[in-house]
Amino acid sequence: MNELPVSIEHVRAAPIKCQGIKTRLVPFIFKSIKWTPTDEARWVEPFSGSGVVALNLAPRRALLADTNRHIIAFYKAIQSGELTRTRAREFLISEGERLAKRGADYYYEVRERFNDQESSFDFLFLNRSCFNGVMRFNSKGRFNVPFGHKPQRFTQAYITKIVNQIDWAARQMRDKDWEFRVARWDEILSELQPDDFVYLDPPYIGRHTDYYNSWNEKEAVRLATVARNLPCGFALSMWLENRYRKNPHIAECWSGFESRVCTHFYHVGSTENLRNEMDEALIIKPGFAVPDSDEEETKKEKVAKQSSFKFSAS
Ligand SMILES: C[S@@+](CC[C@H](N)C(=O)[O-])C[C@H]1O[C@@H](n2cnc3c(N)ncnc32)[C@H](O)[C@@H]1O
Repeated sequence: MNELPVSIEHVRAAPIKCQGIKTRLVPFIFKSIKWTPTDEARWVEPFSGSGVVALNLAPRRALLADTNRHIIAFYKAIQSGELTRTRAREFLISEGERLAKRGADYYYEVRERFNDQESSFDFLFLNRSCFNGVMRFNSKGRFNVPFGHKPQRFTQAYITKIVNQIDWAARQMRDKDWEFRVARWDEILSELQPDDFVYLDPPYIGRHTDYYNSWNEKEAVRLATVARNLPCGFALSMWLENRYRKNPHIAECWSGFESRVCTHFYHVGSTENLRNEMDEALIIKPGFAVPDSDEEETKKEKVAKQSSFKFSAS
């Protein structure tokens, strides 16, 4: 049951979006990890974000945590049946009509309401209509993403897509033992059991500096130190290199671990010519990685080269 590796043919999208979302990396993650859960074993994510990884795996037991209380409240509302496809549809239809009539003014009214009352319905509305679908909070913890400039955002097709995603999330966790918790990563890692498996997906170092997403070198080093002593298996996602630079943190903190590399493209503009390549590494505790194929062996050399680059430079 939920044994890894597994080959996922159709990755489904989560009902909310966030920076660093791993939707496109789900097949790579699940084909790289080896884990046979016992009855008591939990799939643990201390940085669960959109939840897309756990939702696609649908383990029998899970502990999904994040410091962002709005994300956790959103999934708890789905789990308790407070946020259903029917209620979400009614809400998005009526709020979408107001947005269509009043545009940006209405978006900012909902944003203010959310910051005062913290409703998961408003959170969904903002997450799916804000600029670039990002999730950002100011230093006081208030959501501050501007309007996405699309008053007609909530078309019938878009609402159907969102409510299907909510319904799918509800089905993936139904009758399962899943705990959603607002917590810092170190609290979660301190209570792991030997049979658990933990997927670590911290924010990029120094990239985002908002209320929930600040992450610095010191914290990243501490995570690597704690992870080394975990009683259970783990995998950690981290960018390895793009055309401009390599991530020095990998060689500094993660040498000696297994790693698998996945190259993916992201668009920096509207045409195909503006595609940028990014190598994403999955660092895996020895004994929990699927053996490399020949093709992946070549990619793995990149990690080795990077390590030697770092060591010769230091
Ligand atoms: C890269 S995102 C995770 C993305 C997720 N794997 C996905 O696919 O959607 C990092 C998450 O870590 C959370 N976070 C930031 N600092 C944290 C901390 N100290 N402890 C726990 N979670 C934290 C952020 O709120 C964010 O949701």
